[in-house]
Amino acid sequence: MKSIVWIKHASQLATLAQNSEGPRIKEAMNELSIIEDGSVWIEDGVIKAVGTTTELERKFNDRAHEAEITDASGHLVTPGLVDPHTHVAYGGSREREFEMRLEGATYMDIMNAGGGIHATTRMTREASEDELVEQSKKRLDSFLQHGVTTVEGKSGYGLDLENELKQLRVMKRLQDEHPIDLVPTFMGAHAVPTDYKGREEEFVELIIDEMLPAVADEKLAVFNDVFCEVGVFTPEQSERILEAGKMYGLIPKIHADEIEPYGGAELAAKVGAISAEHLLKASDDGITAMADAGTIACLLPATALFLREEAAKGRKMIDEGVPVAISTDCNPGSSPTTSMPLVMNLACISMRLTPAEALTAATYNAACAIQMENKTGSLEVGKQGDVVLWDISNYQELQYLFGVNHVKTVWKKGVKVVG
Ligand code: NIG
Ligand code: FE
Repeated sequence: MKSIVWIKHASQLATLAQNSEGPRIKEAMNELSIIEDGSVWIEDGVIKAVGTTTELERKFNDRAHEAEITDASGHLVTPGLVDPHTHVAYGGSREREFEMRLEGATYMDIMNAGGGIHATTRMTREASEDELVEQSKKRLDSFLQHGVTTVEGKSGYGLDLENELKQLRVMKRLQDEHPIDLVPTFMGAHAVPTDYKGREEEFVELIIDEMLPAVADEKLAVFNDVFCEVGVFTPEQSERILEAGKMYGLIPKIHADEIEPYGGAELAAKVGAISAEHLLKASDDGITAMADAGTIACLLPATALFLREEAAKGRKMIDEGVPVAISTDCNPGSSPTTSMPLVMNLACISMRLTPAEALTAATYNAACAIQMENKTGSLEVGKQGDVVLWDISNYQELQYLFGVNHVKTVWKKGVKVVG
């Protein structure tokens, strides 16, 4: 028997339906393609029809008895949110560092003293695969509760061959064992491990000569990410690692210009990265280069808030034609949150995105940042039935009634997973 979900009478069905290929830019980021009194018909996990309730009733009334019907009267309905940048599969927790930063220590002070990413690396290395799967599942459950149905996840807390592979295998298991779609990124270049201090070049070679081939061999990742930052990997090292990844079919991403301006945005454009992340300190030239190259800016306003830094120039980037996506950056150090709704709120409050742009950045453009736009990110015929029903009536309220989780029901591939 077929499994059929029929959502009817949404006060606003924000479909984000596409009229062109690729991520939305400029004014197109404001177009949500809203259908009033909207309806979606999902059959065996796939969207078969989208339109007004009247249109779909004409089409399906004789099959209504086959469907599980949800009356969405008075409610906003959107595509499942997409989080295109997380470090979700980690071990342990770092709440003490939060206190230390409030007492005056900086993020880099803590990392250089062997804490930060190094602390999570120790805890991730100590954890078994099963333990990491269990800890990460709880976070993925929380993502679902917040309306997120697709998540990117990075390695980078193993920092040696065995443990990088372990983290990626954990993500592969999560993809099989959890309803969320988890898209894996290799990030061996997340930090230079403490035992390679003074031998940074050797670690770069280890990534290029051993880790990248092994990751590609087991097909454990789609993307290759680098933390290009003063005191971590230089632009020159980052370029080598990303170019080497390309040889193995891994698509570049870059943690760029987060803490200091370092030419990361320019490098992202140069190597043809699909996206550049953070960009708090990106230069004007770097922003122009990204607009010209079509590099997606993946902006992380919760990280900026948590580190008490000024957010990236999201408004300027959109106005200059950079496609913008937003993300939690979910990680134990700089952004231990799973709330994409909060991130949308912050995108408006701290980067001056419009409520509609924030929703585009968290759905369709976010899907583009992880090459999932043919499967999810909008409500269109042929895509997965990834849908959120919100306990509010319009998309402006979603951003305006901030800091609250308005999720009522979530369907992943046509299966009700929340509510
Ligand atoms: O994206 N900036 C580098 N990596 C992460 C933080 C990782 C951590 O602190 O554990 C980020 O913010
Ligand atoms: Fe990150």
